[in-house]
Amino acid sequence: MCGIVAYIGPREAYPILIKGLHRLEYRGYDSAGVCLLHDELQIYKCKGKVSELELFIDGQDTSGTIGMAHTRWATHGEPNQVNAHPHYSMNKSLAIIHNGIIENYGTLRSELINRGYVFTSETDTEVLIHLIEDIKENEKVELEEAVRIALNQVIGAYAIVVLSKENPDMIIAARKGSPMVIGIGKDEFFVASDATPIVEYTNNVVFMNDEEIAIIERNKELIIKTIRNKTTTPYIQKLELSLTSLEKGGFDHFMLKEIYEQPRSIRDSMRGRLHLEQGIISLGGIREYEQKLINARRIIITACGTSWHAGLVGEYLLEDLARIPVEVEYSSEFRYRNPIISEEDIVIAISQSGETADTLAAIELAKSKGATVLGICNVVGSSIARATHAGIFTHAGPEIGVASTKAFTAQVIVLTLMALKIAMKKGTITQSRFFQILSELETIPEKVELTLKKNDEVKAIAKIYKDVRNFIYLGRGYNFPVALEGALKLKEISYIHAEGYPAAEMKHGPIALIDAQMPVVVIATRRGTYEKVISNIQEVRARKGKIIAIINEGDEAVKKLADHFIEIPETEEFLVPLIATIPLQLLSYHIAVMRRCNVDQPRNLAKSVTVE
Ligand code: AGP
Ligand code: GLU
Repeated sequence: MCGIVAYIGPREAYPILIKGLHRLEYRGYDSAGVCLLHDELQIYKCKGKVSELELFIDGQDTSGTIGMAHTRWATHGEPNQVNAHPHYSMNKSLAIIHNGIIENYGTLRSELINRGYVFTSETDTEVLIHLIEDIKENEKVELEEAVRIALNQVIGAYAIVVLSKENPDMIIAARKGSPMVIGIGKDEFFVASDATPIVEYTNNVVFMNDEEIAIIERNKELIIKTIRNKTTTPYIQKLELSLTSLEKGGFDHFMLKEIYEQPRSIRDSMRGRLHLEQGIISLGGIREYEQKLINARRIIITACGTSWHAGLVGEYLLEDLARIPVEVEYSSEFRYRNPIISEEDIVIAISQSGETADTLAAIELAKSKGATVLGICNVVGSSIARATHAGIFTHAGPEIGVASTKAFTAQVIVLTLMALKIAMKKGTITQSRFFQILSELETIPEKVELTLKKNDEVKAIAKIYKDVRNFIYLGRGYNFPVALEGALKLKEISYIHAEGYPAAEMKHGPIALIDAQMPVVVIATRRGTYEKVISNIQEVRARKGKIIAIINEGDEAVKKLADHFIEIPETEEFLVPLIATIPLQLLSYHIAVMRRCNVDQPRNLAKSVTVE
């Protein structure tokens, strides 16, 4: 996973690199390191977070106007100082940082060992830098050529930056499968895994494509080549990312800020798409595929984690409103299980980061079978946004907290707009019903706002249950994915074991877990299977389980049955996930804070999972 940042220009590189690493820390925080080129290649690296690296470096010489830095999410070799990036080549004339996995590192490593190379780390990355040195020395080629030849021998995924002592005015960067952006300023260049370390210096960027190498030289034009040695013209794009959207804005954590941003992010995801006055929904990104969607015999949704939960809501929406059969697949399963896909199929890939390796692979598989692949993505310029035939961006803004919150509600909004649009065109809902739903959709940001006002009540419940070891989340229909998402949020940031279940399935097994110590969160909003869920609550009560109910305002019946309740505004059944998710996000947030967990960067996780 890892975050990469590099700089060359007139300024001191170190402060830019460290700031960039902080922005990229969501990508991994097992170790951090920096390399500054100032006569020598000076590397400082240590286990742990970027702040620990700063303490480690304090007082040392950090001068240099060219350098690179890395924050690691370990794949090969434990997270310690030796395995931290950057890595030197054997004669220390070269150094590398890497994001990805070199799959054939074992073979390459044995060959290099036979040729006398000594490895200091257990990483796959070190193989690559020794290989580049070997080619450079033996074939007597320039640095860029040595990198190019080496990359032709590599199987796997990479985004790399290489510095050479002998080329103090040059950065070589390359990518395949892992993201890489180049920022072009006045007399200076920035390289990073995403645009966040770049945005405050320039908004002219080039998103590198797979198998491209960038030759970045001081005071020269940027050169981009493919690893087959074909020069390409860099496509410079304007970034639309604001600096304030990357900062905490007075909140203690990014996650809390992002939870509170949802009225805005939901509104932004509908803006320019939902036209209440004209009574239409326009989805420019997929206009060309509208007819295909209307005629679709089947839709397959592929995603991971929270995005997969949004996909489940999407399944209910598309089947319920647009009457199209939908299958929802974990990308990691889909890509390896030889699924039946045809040219008739429409595959929708959902991803916040747009960099999830499993989802990217699922997209490639679907494309290879001739399916139409549409994306629902949050990051413009990301690999998934570019790999799909067309798509719709969720305008949630940058999501920094590792636990996904506002991206989920934005994904659900986009799926809702999509389902409604198809339903209207197909005639599976009436025009008057369509208009009625559009007006209701308009009220969602306000209803989310009202739900956020319940924060103190949620916090009080969190205080009571912060020390329990298990939680169960129950919901039915549209609220079943909400239960799954609530449980995932709690697990990932508080490390409490939690299970999300369809409420009625509980009696087929998990009910055995219920005792007086077990908190059970039940989403029991009116409409749909409300009455049935009440029976499920009774079943839990009968076994002395503690009920935390998410209910609609004024629902006295459930209030009487519950130990605790949070009231949320009423809405259409299929829009409830947008609102019911909010108290569950807050509950996991407060429990995690009370347990002194690292909310924004939970252990073992990273924001974009760019490895299998
Ligand atoms: C969400 O809180 C998780 N951290 C994780 O499950 C995430 O949703 C998953 O890795 C998918 O990421 P994506 O949306 O960026 O593809
Ligand atoms: N494979 C490299 C390592 O373990 C990079 C890890 C990554 O990008 O996730 O150090």
